Amino acid sequence: MGVLTGGGDCPGLNAVIRAIVRKGERVLGDDIVGFLDAWDGVMDRRTMPLTVESMRGSLPRGGTVLGTRRGSPLDHSDGVERVRTTIHDLGLDGIIVIGGNGSLTVAELLHREHGIPVLGVPKTIDNDIVGTDLTFGFNTAVQIATDAIDRLHTTAESHDRVMVVEVMGRNSGWIATHAGIAGGATVVLVPEHPFDVDQVCERLTRRHSRGRYASIVVVAEGAVPVEGSLASGSDPEVDRFGHARLGGIGHIVADEIGRRTGFETRPVLLGHVQRGGTPTAFDRVLSTRFGVAAIDAVHGGAWGSMVALRGSEIVTVPLAEAAGRSRPVDLALFTDVAEIFFA
Ligand code: F6P
Repeated sequence: MGVLTGGGDCPGLNAVIRAIVRKGERVLGDDIVGFLDAWDGVMDRRTMPLTVESMRGSLPRGGTVLGTRRGSPLDHSDGVERVRTTIHDLGLDGIIVIGGNGSLTVAELLHREHGIPVLGVPKTIDNDIVGTDLTFGFNTAVQIATDAIDRLHTTAESHDRVMVVEVMGRNSGWIATHAGIAGGATVVLVPEHPFDVDQVCERLTRRHSRGRYASIVVVAEGAVPVEGSLASGSDPEVDRFGHARLGGIGHIVADEIGRRTGFETRPVLLGHVQRGGTPTAFDRVLSTRFGVAAIDAVHGGAWGSMVALRGSEIVTVPLAEAAGRSRPVDLALFTDVAEIFFA
Protein backbone atom coordinates (compact mmCIF):
# COMPACT_ATOMS: atom_id res chain seq x y z
CA MET A 1 0.00 0.00 0.00
CA GLY A 2 1.17 3.54 -0.70
CA VAL A 3 0.30 6.56 1.47
CA LEU A 4 0.62 10.27 0.69
CA THR A 5 -0.35 13.52 2.38
CA GLY A 6 -1.49 16.36 0.10
CA GLY A 7 -2.56 19.99 0.44
CA GLY A 8 -1.93 22.16 3.49
CA ASP A 9 -0.60 20.32 6.53
CA CYS A 10 -2.90 19.69 9.44
CA PRO A 11 -2.57 18.41 13.02
CA GLY A 12 -3.33 14.68 13.06
CA LEU A 13 -1.72 13.67 9.74
CA ASN A 14 0.94 11.60 11.49
CA ALA A 15 -1.68 9.99 13.69
CA VAL A 16 -3.57 8.80 10.58
CA ILE A 17 -0.37 7.40 9.01
CA ARG A 18 0.57 5.71 12.28
CA ALA A 19 -2.84 4.02 12.50
CA ILE A 20 -2.71 2.84 8.88
CA VAL A 21 0.74 1.38 9.50
CA ARG A 22 -0.11 -0.20 12.85
CA LYS A 23 -3.18 -2.03 11.59
CA GLY A 24 -1.69 -2.71 8.16
CA GLU A 25 1.61 -4.14 9.34
CA ARG A 26 0.67 -5.79 12.61
CA VAL A 27 -2.82 -7.08 11.86
CA LEU A 28 -3.19 -7.37 8.09
CA GLY A 29 0.40 -8.15 7.08
CA ASP A 30 0.81 -5.22 4.68
CA ASP A 31 4.00 -3.59 3.46
CA ILE A 32 3.44 0.13 3.48
CA VAL A 33 5.40 2.78 1.66
CA GLY A 34 5.11 6.54 2.11
CA PHE A 35 5.42 8.95 -0.82
CA LEU A 36 7.31 12.15 -0.10
CA ASP A 37 5.74 15.50 -1.01
CA ALA A 38 2.39 14.17 -2.18
CA TRP A 39 1.93 13.30 -5.89
CA ASP A 40 5.37 14.77 -6.70
CA GLY A 41 6.84 11.83 -4.78
CA VAL A 42 4.66 9.32 -6.62
CA MET A 43 5.68 10.67 -10.03
CA ASP A 44 9.38 10.88 -9.09
CA ARG A 45 9.31 7.68 -7.03
CA ARG A 46 10.59 9.34 -3.87
CA THR A 47 9.52 7.12 -1.00
CA MET A 48 10.19 6.20 2.60
CA PRO A 49 9.35 2.90 4.26
CA LEU A 50 6.55 3.26 6.80
CA THR A 51 6.79 0.80 9.66
CA VAL A 52 5.53 0.61 13.22
CA GLU A 53 9.15 1.30 14.22
CA SER A 54 9.60 4.35 11.98
CA MET A 55 6.30 5.88 13.16
CA ARG A 56 7.15 5.54 16.84
CA GLY A 57 6.59 8.83 18.72
CA SER A 58 4.59 10.36 15.86
CA LEU A 59 1.11 10.39 17.47
CA PRO A 60 1.42 13.84 19.13
CA ARG A 61 3.58 15.40 16.40
CA GLY A 62 2.06 18.06 14.16
CA GLY A 63 2.89 18.36 10.46
CA THR A 64 3.50 15.28 8.35
CA VAL A 65 6.52 12.98 8.28
CA LEU A 66 5.93 12.59 4.53
CA GLY A 67 5.97 16.25 3.59
CA THR A 68 3.13 17.73 1.59
CA ARG A 69 2.55 19.70 -1.60
CA ARG A 70 -0.32 20.98 -3.67
CA GLY A 71 -0.47 20.00 -7.35
CA SER A 72 -1.56 17.06 -9.43
CA PRO A 73 -0.16 14.47 -11.86
CA LEU A 74 -2.80 15.80 -14.25
CA ASP A 75 -0.76 19.01 -14.54
CA HIS A 76 1.96 17.00 -16.35
CA SER A 77 1.52 15.46 -19.80
CA ASP A 78 3.13 12.20 -18.59
CA GLY A 79 1.94 12.49 -14.95
CA VAL A 80 -0.65 9.71 -14.97
CA GLU A 81 1.71 7.34 -16.76
CA ARG A 82 4.41 8.00 -14.17
CA VAL A 83 1.92 7.29 -11.37
CA ARG A 84 0.91 4.03 -13.06
CA THR A 85 4.53 2.99 -13.51
CA THR A 86 5.37 3.69 -9.86
CA ILE A 87 2.37 1.69 -8.64
CA HIS A 88 3.31 -1.18 -10.94
CA ASP A 89 7.04 -1.18 -10.20
CA LEU A 90 6.58 -0.99 -6.44
CA GLY A 91 3.92 -3.71 -6.60
CA LEU A 92 1.32 -1.56 -4.83
CA ASP A 93 -2.37 -2.38 -4.52
CA GLY A 94 -3.12 1.33 -4.45
CA ILE A 95 -2.59 4.63 -2.68
CA ILE A 96 -4.28 6.10 0.38
CA VAL A 97 -4.54 9.87 -0.14
CA ILE A 98 -4.83 11.92 3.05
CA GLY A 99 -5.92 15.30 1.78
CA GLY A 100 -8.34 18.20 1.65
CA ASN A 101 -10.70 19.40 -1.07
CA GLY A 102 -7.98 19.86 -3.70
CA SER A 103 -6.24 16.52 -3.10
CA LEU A 104 -9.50 14.58 -2.91
CA THR A 105 -10.72 16.16 -6.15
CA VAL A 106 -7.49 15.11 -7.89
CA ALA A 107 -7.76 11.61 -6.38
CA GLU A 108 -11.33 11.24 -7.59
CA LEU A 109 -10.38 12.26 -11.15
CA LEU A 110 -7.41 9.89 -11.19
CA HIS A 111 -9.69 7.07 -10.09
CA ARG A 112 -12.68 7.85 -12.31
CA GLU A 113 -10.89 8.80 -15.52
CA HIS A 114 -7.67 6.80 -15.26
CA GLY A 115 -8.55 3.83 -13.05
CA ILE A 116 -5.86 4.63 -10.45
CA PRO A 117 -6.73 2.80 -7.21
CA VAL A 118 -7.01 5.49 -4.53
CA LEU A 119 -8.81 5.86 -1.22
CA GLY A 120 -9.31 9.23 0.49
CA VAL A 121 -8.99 10.32 4.10
CA PRO A 122 -10.53 13.79 4.67
CA LYS A 123 -8.15 16.31 6.20
CA THR A 124 -8.36 20.03 6.74
CA ILE A 125 -8.48 22.45 9.61
CA ASP A 126 -11.23 24.25 7.64
CA ASN A 127 -13.74 21.37 8.17
CA ASP A 128 -15.27 22.09 4.75
CA ILE A 129 -15.23 18.65 3.09
CA VAL A 130 -18.57 17.38 1.84
CA GLY A 131 -19.51 13.84 2.91
CA THR A 132 -18.07 13.84 6.42
CA ASP A 133 -19.45 15.53 9.52
CA LEU A 134 -15.94 16.44 10.65
CA THR A 135 -12.38 16.51 9.41
CA PHE A 136 -9.42 15.96 11.71
CA GLY A 137 -7.39 19.09 12.47
CA PHE A 138 -10.48 21.25 12.85
CA ASN A 139 -10.82 20.66 16.59
CA THR A 140 -7.18 21.60 17.13
CA ALA A 141 -7.47 24.78 15.06
CA VAL A 142 -10.61 25.84 16.97
CA GLN A 143 -8.86 25.23 20.29
CA ILE A 144 -5.84 27.31 19.22
CA ALA A 145 -8.08 30.15 18.00
CA THR A 146 -10.16 30.00 21.20
CA ASP A 147 -7.05 30.15 23.39
CA ALA A 148 -5.91 33.20 21.42
CA ILE A 149 -9.31 34.90 21.79
CA ASP A 150 -9.30 34.22 25.56
CA ARG A 151 -5.95 36.01 25.79
CA LEU A 152 -7.12 38.88 23.61
CA HIS A 153 -10.11 39.55 25.92
CA THR A 154 -7.89 40.63 28.80
CA THR A 155 -5.67 42.94 26.80
CA ALA A 156 -8.70 44.37 24.95
CA GLU A 157 -10.47 45.06 28.27
CA SER A 158 -7.40 46.71 29.77
CA HIS A 159 -7.20 49.17 26.87
CA ASP A 160 -10.89 49.49 25.92
CA ARG A 161 -10.08 48.21 22.46
CA VAL A 162 -11.71 46.29 19.67
CA MET A 163 -9.60 43.31 18.61
CA VAL A 164 -10.21 41.94 15.12
CA VAL A 165 -9.00 38.33 14.98
CA GLU A 166 -8.52 36.83 11.53
CA VAL A 167 -8.74 33.04 11.46
CA MET A 168 -8.34 30.55 8.59
CA GLY A 169 -11.27 29.42 6.48
CA ARG A 170 -10.96 30.02 2.78
CA ASN A 171 -14.51 29.10 1.74
CA SER A 172 -16.16 28.38 5.02
CA GLY A 173 -16.62 29.92 8.42
CA TRP A 174 -16.37 26.76 10.53
CA ILE A 175 -13.32 27.85 12.51
CA ALA A 176 -14.60 31.43 12.87
CA THR A 177 -18.04 30.32 14.06
CA HIS A 178 -16.83 27.69 16.54
CA ALA A 179 -14.00 29.82 17.92
CA GLY A 180 -16.34 32.83 18.00
CA ILE A 181 -18.91 30.94 20.07
CA ALA A 182 -16.27 29.36 22.32
CA GLY A 183 -14.40 32.63 22.76
CA GLY A 184 -17.44 34.87 23.32
CA ALA A 185 -16.98 37.07 20.25
CA THR A 186 -19.11 40.15 19.67
CA VAL A 187 -19.28 39.63 15.91
CA VAL A 188 -18.27 36.74 13.62
CA LEU A 189 -17.78 37.29 9.88
CA VAL A 190 -17.82 34.24 7.61
CA PRO A 191 -17.40 33.69 3.86
CA GLU A 192 -20.94 32.32 3.58
CA HIS A 193 -22.56 35.67 4.53
CA PRO A 194 -21.15 38.84 2.96
CA PHE A 195 -20.86 41.40 5.74
CA ASP A 196 -21.82 45.05 5.93
CA VAL A 197 -19.15 46.93 7.81
CA ASP A 198 -21.66 49.63 8.80
CA GLN A 199 -23.72 46.97 10.59
CA VAL A 200 -20.61 45.70 12.33
CA CYS A 201 -19.82 49.24 13.49
CA GLU A 202 -23.41 49.75 14.68
CA ARG A 203 -23.22 46.60 16.79
CA LEU A 204 -19.96 47.67 18.34
CA THR A 205 -21.25 51.18 19.01
CA ARG A 206 -24.43 49.76 20.62
CA ARG A 207 -22.35 47.53 22.83
CA HIS A 208 -20.00 50.34 23.80
CA SER A 209 -22.98 52.60 24.59
CA ARG A 210 -24.06 49.94 27.10
CA GLY A 211 -20.77 50.31 28.90
CA ARG A 212 -18.83 47.42 27.34
CA TYR A 213 -15.72 49.03 25.97
CA ALA A 214 -13.89 45.99 24.68
CA SER A 215 -15.02 43.73 21.85
CA ILE A 216 -13.71 40.79 19.86
CA VAL A 217 -14.54 40.54 16.17
CA VAL A 218 -13.66 37.19 14.57
CA VAL A 219 -13.26 37.26 10.81
CA ALA A 220 -12.61 34.26 8.57
CA GLU A 221 -9.89 34.95 6.00
CA GLY A 222 -12.40 34.29 3.19
CA ALA A 223 -15.07 36.70 4.52
CA VAL A 224 -16.16 39.24 1.93
CA PRO A 225 -17.93 42.59 2.27
CA VAL A 226 -21.33 43.23 0.72
CA GLU A 227 -20.64 44.56 -2.75
CA GLY A 228 -19.77 48.23 -2.77
CA SER A 229 -19.67 48.55 1.04
CA LEU A 230 -15.90 48.36 1.38
CA ALA A 231 -12.99 48.66 -1.02
CA SER A 232 -11.49 45.19 -1.45
CA GLY A 233 -7.79 44.51 -1.89
CA SER A 234 -6.04 43.52 -5.10
CA ASP A 235 -6.61 40.08 -6.65
CA PRO A 236 -4.92 37.42 -4.51
CA GLU A 237 -2.23 35.04 -5.79
CA VAL A 238 -3.30 31.43 -6.38
CA ASP A 239 -1.62 28.18 -5.32
CA ARG A 240 -1.05 25.00 -7.39
CA PHE A 241 -4.68 23.94 -6.84
CA GLY A 242 -5.85 27.35 -8.09
CA HIS A 243 -6.94 28.34 -4.56
CA ALA A 244 -6.65 32.02 -3.70
CA ARG A 245 -3.92 32.78 -1.16
CA LEU A 246 -5.85 34.79 1.40
CA GLY A 247 -5.03 36.78 4.52
CA GLY A 248 -5.52 40.46 5.06
CA ILE A 249 -9.26 41.00 5.49
CA GLY A 250 -8.69 41.35 9.27
CA HIS A 251 -6.49 44.41 8.72
CA ILE A 252 -9.00 45.97 6.34
CA VAL A 253 -11.90 45.39 8.76
CA ALA A 254 -9.90 46.69 11.75
CA ASP A 255 -8.89 49.87 9.87
CA GLU A 256 -12.45 50.48 8.80
CA ILE A 257 -13.91 49.93 12.31
CA GLY A 258 -11.34 52.28 13.80
CA ARG A 259 -12.01 54.93 11.15
CA ARG A 260 -15.82 54.74 11.31
CA THR A 261 -16.29 54.38 15.10
CA GLY A 262 -13.26 56.11 16.54
CA PHE A 263 -12.70 53.06 18.82
CA GLU A 264 -9.11 51.99 19.18
CA THR A 265 -8.90 48.81 17.11
CA ARG A 266 -6.12 46.26 16.57
CA PRO A 267 -5.92 43.46 13.99
CA VAL A 268 -4.53 40.03 14.95
CA LEU A 269 -3.77 37.49 12.25
CA LEU A 270 -3.50 33.97 13.68
CA GLY A 271 -2.40 32.45 10.37
CA HIS A 272 -0.45 29.21 10.35
CA VAL A 273 -0.25 29.02 14.14
CA GLN A 274 -3.68 27.37 13.75
CA ARG A 275 -2.16 24.56 11.70
CA GLY A 276 1.04 23.92 13.60
CA GLY A 277 1.89 21.78 16.58
CA THR A 278 0.32 18.91 18.42
CA PRO A 279 -3.24 17.70 17.69
CA THR A 280 -5.85 17.77 20.47
CA ALA A 281 -6.88 14.47 22.05
CA PHE A 282 -10.10 14.63 20.02
CA ASP A 283 -8.18 14.93 16.74
CA ARG A 284 -5.76 12.16 17.72
CA VAL A 285 -8.72 9.83 18.27
CA LEU A 286 -10.50 10.86 15.05
CA SER A 287 -7.27 10.54 13.04
CA THR A 288 -6.61 7.11 14.52
CA ARG A 289 -10.16 5.96 13.71
CA PHE A 290 -9.83 7.30 10.13
CA GLY A 291 -6.47 5.54 9.67
CA VAL A 292 -7.76 2.18 10.87
CA ALA A 293 -10.92 2.55 8.77
CA ALA A 294 -8.84 3.47 5.68
CA ILE A 295 -6.69 0.35 5.78
CA ASP A 296 -9.76 -1.80 6.47
CA ALA A 297 -11.59 -0.15 3.57
CA VAL A 298 -8.84 -0.86 1.03
CA HIS A 299 -8.72 -4.47 2.19
CA GLY A 300 -12.44 -4.51 1.45
CA GLY A 301 -11.68 -3.21 -2.07
CA ALA A 302 -13.26 0.21 -1.49
CA TRP A 303 -11.03 2.06 -3.99
CA GLY A 304 -12.63 5.29 -5.16
CA SER A 305 -14.08 5.90 -1.68
CA MET A 306 -13.30 8.15 1.25
CA VAL A 307 -13.60 7.35 4.93
CA ALA A 308 -15.93 9.73 6.72
CA LEU A 309 -17.53 10.46 10.07
CA ARG A 310 -21.33 10.30 10.02
CA GLY A 311 -22.80 10.90 13.45
CA SER A 312 -20.58 8.80 15.66
CA GLU A 313 -19.85 6.13 13.02
CA ILE A 314 -16.92 5.90 10.61
CA VAL A 315 -18.23 4.94 7.17
CA THR A 316 -17.02 4.99 3.57
CA VAL A 317 -18.61 7.27 0.97
CA PRO A 318 -17.84 7.68 -2.75
CA LEU A 319 -15.00 10.15 -3.34
CA ALA A 320 -17.30 11.77 -5.90
CA GLU A 321 -19.41 13.11 -3.02
CA ALA A 322 -16.53 15.28 -1.85
CA ALA A 323 -14.79 16.10 -5.13
CA GLY A 324 -14.96 19.68 -6.36
CA ARG A 325 -17.26 20.83 -3.56
CA SER A 326 -16.96 22.69 -0.32
CA ARG A 327 -19.19 22.34 2.75
CA PRO A 328 -20.52 25.64 4.09
CA VAL A 329 -20.83 26.31 7.78
CA ASP A 330 -23.95 24.96 9.44
CA LEU A 331 -26.42 27.80 8.94
CA ALA A 332 -28.47 26.88 12.01
CA LEU A 333 -25.36 27.02 14.17
CA PHE A 334 -24.51 30.45 12.82
CA THR A 335 -27.96 32.06 12.92
CA ASP A 336 -29.65 30.25 15.83
CA VAL A 337 -26.70 29.99 18.18
CA ALA A 338 -23.74 32.25 17.33
CA GLU A 339 -25.80 35.29 16.37
CA ILE A 340 -27.75 35.28 19.68
CA PHE A 341 -24.52 36.36 21.38
CA PHE A 342 -23.56 39.06 18.93
CA ALA A 343 -23.90 42.61 20.27
O1 F6P B 1 -7.12 24.68 3.58
C1 F6P B 1 -6.49 24.90 4.78
C2 F6P B 1 -5.87 26.25 4.82
O2 F6P B 1 -5.30 26.32 6.08
C3 F6P B 1 -6.83 27.42 4.54
O3 F6P B 1 -7.60 27.78 5.64
C4 F6P B 1 -5.88 28.49 4.09
O4 F6P B 1 -6.51 29.42 3.23
C5 F6P B 1 -4.85 27.75 3.37
O5 F6P B 1 -4.84 26.43 3.87
C6 F6P B 1 -3.48 28.40 3.48
O6 F6P B 1 -2.55 27.52 3.00
P1 F6P B 1 -1.04 27.84 2.59
O7 F6P B 1 -0.64 29.11 3.26
O8 F6P B 1 -0.31 26.65 3.06
O9 F6P B 1 -1.03 27.95 1.12
